[in-house]
Amino acid sequence: MLRFSNALEAVHKSWLSFQTMTTKMMSLVLLVLIGVTHSLDNGLARTPPMGWMSWQRFRCNIDCKDDKYNCISEDLYMEMADHLVSDGYRDLGYEYVNIDDCWAAKQRDSDGKLRADPERFPSGIKKLADYVHSKGLKLGIYGDFGTLTCGGYPGSKFYEELDAQTFADWGVDSLKLDGCYSTIDDYAIGYPLMEFWLNKTGRPILYSCSWPAYVVFSHKIPDYAAIAKSCNIWRNYGDIQDSWGSVTDIIRFYGNDSGNFSSFAGPGNFNDPDMIIVGDYGLSFDQQQVQMALWAIMASPLLMSNDLRIIRAESKAILQNKMAISINQDPLGIQGKRVYMNNKFEIWTRPLKDSRFAIAAVYYGTGGGPTRQMTSLGKIGLTNQNGYTLTDVFTGQPAGKYSLNTTLTLRPNPSGVLFFLAVPQ
Ligand code: GLA
Repeated sequence: MLRFSNALEAVHKSWLSFQTMTTKMMSLVLLVLIGVTHSLDNGLARTPPMGWMSWQRFRCNIDCKDDKYNCISEDLYMEMADHLVSDGYRDLGYEYVNIDDCWAAKQRDSDGKLRADPERFPSGIKKLADYVHSKGLKLGIYGDFGTLTCGGYPGSKFYEELDAQTFADWGVDSLKLDGCYSTIDDYAIGYPLMEFWLNKTGRPILYSCSWPAYVVFSHKIPDYAAIAKSCNIWRNYGDIQDSWGSVTDIIRFYGNDSGNFSSFAGPGNFNDPDMIIVGDYGLSFDQQQVQMALWAIMASPLLMSNDLRIIRAESKAILQNKMAISINQDPLGIQGKRVYMNNKFEIWTRPLKDSRFAIAAVYYGTGGGPTRQMTSLGKIGLTNQNGYTLTDVFTGQPAGKYSLNTTLTLRPNPSGVLFFLAVPQ
């Protein structure tokens, strides 16, 4: 699986002296060398990765003295691993336990290696990886392509090879590489370079890049073809917050699909609209269903950021809905699209294996009760001449048989969704 060339060794050496070179010239040389000599080759993320990630729910809480239960520590990740197994998430596909920012010590060790904060991670990341693996799960870690992480911990710039090897030696299975403390011109070089060193370790490490998010922040369209060549998944929008406004903002960005980024999704490569906040504080029951339905339609990673120790049964049921998960995990890996929108109502569809479709009808209204909207399966792009049998994903109940031009009357709740699986008849 490894592809290695002397040219890329040279890239790295050049990169190390990058600061002192004429930057534009060097960028060109490095880009050409990287472009002709490699592509992501780890066999991972054939379907969107699923698991748990600390950031949205636990942020950079490093106060283990006064807030031991919620601080970023090895105990937190071990407890979440325990719950993924004992509460049935692992067996439904939620397999990654992903450490986010603020895990590291502020200084590298005397050999220049990253190390975990010794007080909050007294056993070290290798031991944590062993624990997570013993539960049949995988461990993800967080780094940053720049000189520091977004939270101010050591970044990987100019340490790419060492850090990739350190993560591999620890038994890490996934790396989220953020892009703080860097510049937009460096991403196209640095992200592929880290991918190269990850590949070279020989350990399959799922690679999550924040590269396009920083390009979008600069009001530019990312080079998704280049990104998909190096990264398994990539963030391309701002951080999710625990609110309905944040969820709808992300959905709008994905509906607009500027740069046609949906077309770059497929086995091995997925757009990442950020973590699932089902089970947190900010969303109503209906809004939680919207996030789950849309993340399934959008072929998005299902990385929950919530507290599995105290989650309500109704949120757990949404996260564990088998039909929603199977739509998310459809092997074709096609990202669904918004196919209809008016002022407050949208229809999204996603083509699935065996000519099936997922359909989500979302209503953003805030007054009164459910809206009533009429359409037909033909109007929203379904094509099977014999029509389809619909099942309501959240209730599991049959929702009728429809020809392509039969009127389909939809009544989603305010800030709610109707989510269907359509099977050809
Ligand atoms: C950025 C990322 C977040 C999180 C924080 C950590 O904001 O987008 O997902 O990783 O950094 O500092």
